[in-house]
Amino acid sequence: MQVIAGQMTAKYLFVAADLGVFEALADGPVEQHQLEGRLSVPGHGLRILLDALVAVGLLQRSGDRYANTDVTQEVLSGRGHQDLRPIVKMWNDVVYQQWASLGQSIRADRAAYGYAEFTPDQLETFTTGVGVLTAPTADALSRSYDFSRHRSLLDLGGGTGSFVTAARQRYPQLHATVLERSQSAPLTRARLAASAAAPASASSKETCWTGLSPPATMSTWCPTCCTFFRHRGTGSCCLTSEPRHRLVLACYWWTSGPTTNGPSQRSRP
Ligand SMILES: C[S@@+](CC[C@H](N)C(=O)[O-])C[C@H]1O[C@@H](n2cnc3c(N)ncnc32)[C@H](O)[C@@H]1O
Repeated sequence: MQVIAGQMTAKYLFVAADLGVFEALADGPVEQHQLEGRLSVPGHGLRILLDALVAVGLLQRSGDRYANTDVTQEVLSGRGHQDLRPIVKMWNDVVYQQWASLGQSIRADRAAYGYAEFTPDQLETFTTGVGVLTAPTADALSRSYDFSRHRSLLDLGGGTGSFVTAARQRYPQLHATVLERSQSAPLTRARLAASAAAPASASSKETCWTGLSPPATMSTWCPTCCTFFRHRGTGSCCLTSEPRHRLVLACYWWTSGPTTNGPSQRSRP
């Protein structure tokens, strides 16, 4: 039953984050009627939501007062050391919709709700959320892979530039380029310009990329490395035909966190 009802649990979290429940509780326990005013939400529905959040362990309740748990205070209140709110927003505004069409995707063997369907807001939410999601992997890669032997770094499908930014923080000699879709490139440029590791450059040219991986066959969850592997095999693309070039495939879906062997079993260079 937990699996069957899993989407409802996730939706409690998404709606609460969207309403600002966790931020409203950042300074300590608050009574329900005070929350109604702060969030501008009618009391009946709010009570149902708050109690559901208590039931699934995302809030605590004492009498009529609700409080964040240690975890929600740490990652969703905006006051902790980690901020996972961009990931929750991405899941609610983009990923949830993508997965609603999973059956259609599997049957048609194509992304039913892919990048081409994103609204500008969804594109920004997705790119920002993925950047937060991949930041630990990008940091782990920059710590475990020796970039000192390279002068140039090209990140295919680099989003906000998490990987090149982390690499350049440790290896400032790197000239980094991010290849992105033309729709995403303005956001990429803005993020790279704002990062401490600037200057790097962002390219909106898709020549190499489209030659490698036709968008129609992209998987929704890992277009960068999965389809690349599927279509070209390891290291056989035009970018690595030169012996002095090195291809590093980084997959950001953590299964167990960093290992002593490298970023993870699946993201080891
Ligand atoms: C899962 S995200 C990874 C983002 C990035 N590695 C990060 O850590 O933030 C995949 C990225 O590939 C980009 N992408 C998809 N199709 C592309 C194409 N045809 N050419 C260039 N980039 C593409 C998307 O815009 C998206 O930013």
